Amino acid sequence: TGLVTYDVGFVNTAACKSDITFIDGDQGILRYRGYPIDQLAQQSTFVEVAYLLIYGKLPSSDELKRFDDLIRRHTMLHEDLRAFFNGFPRDAHPMPVLSSAVSALGTFYQDSLDPFDQDQVEISTVRLLAKLPTIAAYAHKKSVGQPFMYPDNSLGLVENFLRMTFGMPAEPYELDPVVVKALDQLFILHADHEQNCSTSTVRLVGSAHANMFNSISAGIHALSGPLHGGANQAVLEMLGQLHQSGEDPKKFMERVKNKEAGVRLMGFGHRVYKNYDPRAALVKKSADEVLEKLGANDPLLDIAKQLEEVALADDYFVERRLYPNVDFYTGLIYKAMGFESKMFTVLFAIGRLPGWIAQWREMMTDSETKIGRPRQIYTGEAERDYVPLDNR
Ligand code: CMC
Repeated sequence: TGLVTYDVGFVNTAACKSDITFIDGDQGILRYRGYPIDQLAQQSTFVEVAYLLIYGKLPSSDELKRFDDLIRRHTMLHEDLRAFFNGFPRDAHPMPVLSSAVSALGTFYQDSLDPFDQDQVEISTVRLLAKLPTIAAYAHKKSVGQPFMYPDNSLGLVENFLRMTFGMPAEPYELDPVVVKALDQLFILHADHEQNCSTSTVRLVGSAHANMFNSISAGIHALSGPLHGGANQAVLEMLGQLHQSGEDPKKFMERVKNKEAGVRLMGFGHRVYKNYDPRAALVKKSADEVLEKLGANDPLLDIAKQLEEVALADDYFVERRLYPNVDFYTGLIYKAMGFESKMFTVLFAIGRLPGWIAQWREMMTDSETKIGRPRQIYTGEAERDYVPLDNR
């Protein structure tokens, strides 16, 4: 094994150079293209942040308008793709539906899949940004048995998504500006996070020169896991179970610390952040504000706060430097907005999409890129002779 480094989970291995996102895990710093996350969350918009991540600079107002117009123009799905949603069982989880629909989407655009043709990459970028919210809303509509809502291109990305998700053809849908603003901000907070599991997946698949749709479809599957984006759904289920069973949060935490099978404090801990997750701080503030403005008095918020309080004062968590991550409070906000928990990770995917695209594009234009191909340390049998079936 001489030259091979053993690094399970790539704890210490950099597989690329990147100009996109900077994280300092000890100091709790996160910046997109140099801009601090709190400034972007408070002053920018999701579409502008998407532009920033993908093109490397803040757009002028003309550039932003052009980009926003392009996204609005491409929100519709091919009619044949609508039929696709009927192939899934009614109770299908929307994450595999989302991922499958994204790879299916590529089959409708077979003349623009070349990863090295700049024009084709541009149009694929716009199509994905514009159509993922439509796919996500259709996946939701299918799961609740309601009619699909066509996009309304007079609306921006977030407004359109909310209307397609919660609107009904029979009646006008009234957008709540509190919800629009909060969701836009949550999408910004999720928009990139350098080489996390799903982004690394997008890069690994893309490193074989797979097209953007297939690479991102793979990333969506990675995101669905409960240790990654699936944690936001898992947190809410954990809080719901505690509420239903009436179990004392302190007792629950004892079970977590004893590492009872399958019991983890979901929404806590992070590979990189060891003091706090700057996104979690912003989300917690937003949870308080949004729940109050929506008049949603959710007992689960109190349970979450109790768990956090117990954890932050407990040696187990302090020694291991475990703090709330971005997923700890997001589910409570999504729930107050009216999303069912199965949709939470889908919201994460819509938010993360600009990051996946930016990272895929960066890799494709980086002359140092090679196909991803980790090594292993073989621990199996030494050479042995085949034994014919009759002699075994
Ligand atoms: N609850 C209880 N113990 C934990 C937790 C937790 N949430 N997270 C880590 N630990 C313990 C772990 O058991 C280990 O203990 P020991 O040293 O005694 O073996 C120690 O802390 C180090 O943990 P690790 O699993 O080696 O750390 P990692 O960097 O491999 O994993 C993580 C990071 C995020 C997967 C993990 O903290 C975790 O499973 N958290 C819960 C799931 C979660 O909230 N995921 C969302 C992550 S942030 C957003 C995203 O990426 O999507």
